[in-house]
Amino acid sequence: MRNLIDILDLTTEEIDELISTASDIIDNPGKYAEACRGKILGTLFFEPSTRTRLSFTSAMMSLGGSVLGFDQANSTSVTKGETLSDTIRMVSAYTDIIAMRHPKEGAPIVASAVSEVPIINAGDGGHFHPTQTLTDLMTIKRKLGRLEGLTVGLCGDLKYGRTVHSLICAMSRYAGVRFVLISPKELRLPDYVKDEFLKDGSYTEITELEAAIPELDILYMTRIQEERFESHEEYERLANVYELDANKLRNAKPTLSVLHPLPRVNEINVDVDTDPRAHYFEQAANGRYIRMALILKLLGTRGYSDNRMSGEESDTLECRNPHCLSLTERGIVKLFRDGVCIYCDQKAQNK
Ligand code: NCD
Repeated sequence: MRNLIDILDLTTEEIDELISTASDIIDNPGKYAEACRGKILGTLFFEPSTRTRLSFTSAMMSLGGSVLGFDQANSTSVTKGETLSDTIRMVSAYTDIIAMRHPKEGAPIVASAVSEVPIINAGDGGHFHPTQTLTDLMTIKRKLGRLEGLTVGLCGDLKYGRTVHSLICAMSRYAGVRFVLISPKELRLPDYVKDEFLKDGSYTEITELEAAIPELDILYMTRIQEERFESHEEYERLANVYELDANKLRNAKPTLSVLHPLPRVNEINVDVDTDPRAHYFEQAANGRYIRMALILKLLGTRGYSDNRMSGEESDTLECRNPHCLSLTERGIVKLFRDGVCIYCDQKAQNK
């Protein structure tokens, strides 16, 4: 059975195929209209979503399939104390494929260990968001014609921004890609992404947006992730640090692609929306087609797969990431690989 827990579950060839299928769907929608007749997608959203949930729903409906699920954890038995594992066991009996979003990091790994149907990670805490990355890669490929040799600026909340983490994992596999990481010091990219995916010399870390713009092929703006902050004062202090506007784009390349996973707050002024280099609404639209291609690929791959759960138990190590599901899920086996928690990828601490 194939799951999509993080973007590296797909090879670059598979990503190319998904982008080609999505483009074919755009050109020939009728060819796919019955492809999932009789199949059911479960959309389990324990955390708010507009685009991701609705584009998954639209994707399955456009394939002739049906959708069931929920968009608020408080309407489910979670409020009665049910574990995620138990919820997933049941839903996997009612569906053929599941897309889930959860505030805790590692939740889709736990789900994939008990699910009989493929699990798609639609965002786990501040960790990963691989289907947004597919949408991003499709947009870049269609706009710039390639994924290699690009200078990619990522701006905003690089600490908690899960879309940024997955996009860096994916793009670091293409030759000649350079990253310009633009954030306040407090919101820098976490070490678990940097150490694992960025080679020395392939990136720079800066705090100022405007000076970086002229060299960029892609400018990926992100929202400061208010819901992940431990203190509201800290959020308020950093909330409006960046605002891209038409004036700041005056020295940008004519071929620049401005992207944003959306929702935006203040980080892109509406005066950028009419600039031909603003591609974020098209990016959101692409989400429907690439998710259709993904559902087609993963559906039909059934049976248990627990290879994600490989790691060792430890008497001396513990995960102290307050956002990791392994701290709260009853009955979970805490596993570590090379001193790292297998659920959230953060370095474990000595007890
Ligand atoms: C993003 C997310 O949920 O991580 N939204 C999305 O899926 N398009 C970005 C965000 O919430 O800032």
